[in-house]
Amino acid sequence: MTVNADPTAALADGTAGGRPAAPIAVAVIGAGFMGERWGRALHEHAGARVAVVGDPDAARGGALAERLGARHVADAREAAAAPGVDAVVVCTPEHLHLDASLAALEAGRALAVEKPIAHSSEEADAIVAAAERADVPVLAAHVLRFEPRYAAVRDAIARGEIGRVVAVRQERIGVAADRARLGERTTVALYYASHELDLARWYAGDLVEVHGYGDPGELLSGALRFADGAHGTVQVGWCLPDRTPGFGLAGVTVIGEHGALRVSQGDSGLLAVGCDGQLDADVAWAPELHGRLGGALAREVDHFVAVARGDQAPLCTAADGAAAVRASLALEASAGIGSTIEIERPRHGGSLTEETGVK
Ligand SMILES: NC(=O)c1ccc[n+]([C@@H]2O[C@H](COP(=O)([O-])OP(=O)(O)OC[C@H]3O[C@@H](n4cnc5c(N)ncnc54)[C@H](O)[C@@H]3O)[C@@H](O)[C@H]2O)c1
Repeated sequence: MTVNADPTAALADGTAGGRPAAPIAVAVIGAGFMGERWGRALHEHAGARVAVVGDPDAARGGALAERLGARHVADAREAAAAPGVDAVVVCTPEHLHLDASLAALEAGRALAVEKPIAHSSEEADAIVAAAERADVPVLAAHVLRFEPRYAAVRDAIARGEIGRVVAVRQERIGVAADRARLGERTTVALYYASHELDLARWYAGDLVEVHGYGDPGELLSGALRFADGAHGTVQVGWCLPDRTPGFGLAGVTVIGEHGALRVSQGDSGLLAVGCDGQLDADVAWAPELHGRLGGALAREVDHFVAVARGDQAPLCTAADGAAAVRASLALEASAGIGSTIEIERPRHGGSLTEETGVK
């Protein structure tokens, strides 16, 4: 399969390299917070249509299917393997990604899996292996890679603007309401560190060692060592007051040999104040712009449609998703046992020097 690795060559107009292309039929599995957004953005994309919504919750799945002109199927495996479907997006809770993902891959469908792609290294590796067996592309849906500021950091590194990466600093600390909603089904490391450690690997290459500190149920810090010699820190939590603007604190700093890059996620450029104080206004993730969903999610959906058509290679592969899971689990395990954990080298390489040529 020949692919265009340039993810900016998007297909939002529904064309493939200038030629008209029939919309691909997509099954969206899990009709909650993210499934609703993926479903809407696919529905609004000229190159895609939602054919099936899979969710055991008949009221929620049925309502989303009706809104998108799709068929509701209660069983996730059946939905992922439904006849006529070209591509599958898995938006089930974090610990329930495996069944639908394997069903999609066994049926030969291009797959996008929300982060973290799995809840254990074994399950993540099973997705990687099934994708290799089926020879179909998988996008590990790490949306930060599609947010212009985080993507600009990677581009600046790849252009050599700060020289070799010496250190990274990652931060994502959510509010206590996150823990109340999600603490029964996942962990803060899998939920938030998976975002940050994917970015850290994207910026600094393979991560070989982590030493975690703190409470794995609440707030964690980690010291990081990368294969190319860089070092770093990561801090994740879900402990801030619920009224923290932007639903928490997040950002990244990259120090290079002769420069630095920094994203302060909360600085959106928009201040909204109502009679009760500051309002949250999404200008980055999935804002409605002129009646359509925009932002990083819409860019990710553009990219996935192109991946499913074979026009682009996944910007974040199943192996990348598995590496983020492995690193997140190592962070929380290390904090639990109080000693450094060496992370197995991913099989696909991943040296930043090899990828970008920056020495
Ligand atoms: N990229 C981001 O910014 C971002 C933000 C939030 C969540 N997420 C990720 O998206 C995924 C989904 O999270 P969410 O917040 O949308 O969850 P959610 O709880 O809002 O929705 C999950 C949906 O899956 C359904 N479901 C449960 N079991 C199922 C099964 N076996 N088969 C099919 N459907 C099933 C539920 O009924 C529910 O409708 C998670 O992996 C989460 O970490 C990503």
